[in-house]
Amino acid sequence: MITSATNTLPGPRARFPGHLMFAFRSDPLGFLIRIAAKFGDRSAFGIGRMRFVLLNDPDLIREVIVAKADQFQKSPALRQARVSIGDGLLTSEGDFHKRQRKLSQPAFHPSRVAGYSAAMVRRSRQMAVAWRDGERIDLHEQMMKLTLRVVTETLFSASIEDEIDQIGQAMDVIVRMFSRARNPLAPILNRLPLPSNRRFVRAQADVRRTVEHFVLQNRMAGVDRGDLLSTLVRARDTGGETAVMSDDPGGAQDAASAQAMSDIQLRDEIVTLFIAGHETTANALTFALWLLSQNEDAAAKLYSEIDAAGAGRDLLSADLDHLPFTRAVVAEAMRLYPPAWVLMRQAKEDVRLGSDSVRVPKMGIVIMSQWITHRDPRWWPEPETFKPERWLDDTAKQNRPKYAYFPFGGGPRSCIGEAFAWTEAVLIIATLLRDWRLEAESPKPLRLTPTITLRPKDPVWMRLRRR
Ligand code: HEM
Repeated sequence: MITSATNTLPGPRARFPGHLMFAFRSDPLGFLIRIAAKFGDRSAFGIGRMRFVLLNDPDLIREVIVAKADQFQKSPALRQARVSIGDGLLTSEGDFHKRQRKLSQPAFHPSRVAGYSAAMVRRSRQMAVAWRDGERIDLHEQMMKLTLRVVTETLFSASIEDEIDQIGQAMDVIVRMFSRARNPLAPILNRLPLPSNRRFVRAQADVRRTVEHFVLQNRMAGVDRGDLLSTLVRARDTGGETAVMSDDPGGAQDAASAQAMSDIQLRDEIVTLFIAGHETTANALTFALWLLSQNEDAAAKLYSEIDAAGAGRDLLSADLDHLPFTRAVVAEAMRLYPPAWVLMRQAKEDVRLGSDSVRVPKMGIVIMSQWITHRDPRWWPEPETFKPERWLDDTAKQNRPKYAYFPFGGGPRSCIGEAFAWTEAVLIIATLLRDWRLEAESPKPLRLTPTITLRPKDPVWMRLRRR
């Protein structure tokens, strides 16, 4: 019988009650880095009655999130987040998650994502046209607005300009509540008559009303508008492959006999896509553009690539093939500043990993941090240096273990929006920087806030210069 991972693995011990909890909460990045540096790839520690295992071995990470994914569930904090975002893909578990994932998958099929690219480019052009030479912007704020507009438009189609700001504000309130799930006192705080709780209830009602309105409109229109919502509304679980209802009436009848998502499931999935799909990408874009502002050579290479791609017209998804350096810039930015900086999994049973060298007790929590693994010198020579070129070197890529890089996780709970995010980030950078150069005004290095996502702590001030 496995009793405790802390019996077998090295790790820090609390010097006083609450010591490790305090250290973890006050500086999570520093806390995990110090443990990995001192105790190696596999370590363990306890906080109260909770047992934690920290892994920095790409093969063991693969084992947890891919090979033995069924033996784990999401962390208690993420499960607690159901209170704020409902039972969507991010928070659901087991067979329910599998079914929802299957139903949602067609909305992220490459042909669909290619269809969303027009909205991504249109929204970026709109921002590029509104910018003024010499103006000072908070880059992070601008990227949050841009990705919110993109996700809103790709979810619901183009006709909702009036509602975008209102939805944005309500979503912001919900995201704050989502972050509260990390607080061990969240279940108590959620029940108190706090202004934040009242704001949350209002925001949740606003978002639900808006989403329900769009679902109804979409059902009444009865046509596939090419947006995410259309695919989700029309997805049917036939028990085998998921079908998406076609506009052909015969096909519709067949598919209608299969099981679709209820309005409540649709609503929870849509709120989840909003939450999961906009801040992460905004953070990746902010870090990539900030890194470019600090690296003239990389910026010069990027300009020559984007000036040549699709010259004289708006970029299309087909142009992505001609933007390998821009993609490398995004990849390298997510290596150094992974928007999802940590994955956690709780063991549903006692689990043995790495041919029995690591034992995770039932209810033990495995921590895997992109922040640590992405800066490991064994896989990343000069790990602290921004070098997009490393992504164009196929030999180096082949020599690295797959899970030395996992910005989108992996296995059955991997990011469903990965292709969406790559397309969006590359097209946004290429479209904005066709006309603009961004000069950083923030002091370096960036200060970071690692909450649910890794985001800049302060505004990221940039001076706009027309190219
Ligand atoms: C740079 C941008 C993004 C990053 C770094 C990112 C990262 C991640 C990661 C690491 C996970 C796995 C979490 C875990 O295993 O615990 C995840 C899950 C998820 N992401 Fe993303 N994501 C990004 C963009 C998006 C976008 C654009 C969407 C949707 C439009 C999206 C929707 C989701 C959803 C729904 C899940 C849950 C999937 C499931 O459990 O089945 N993400 N994301």
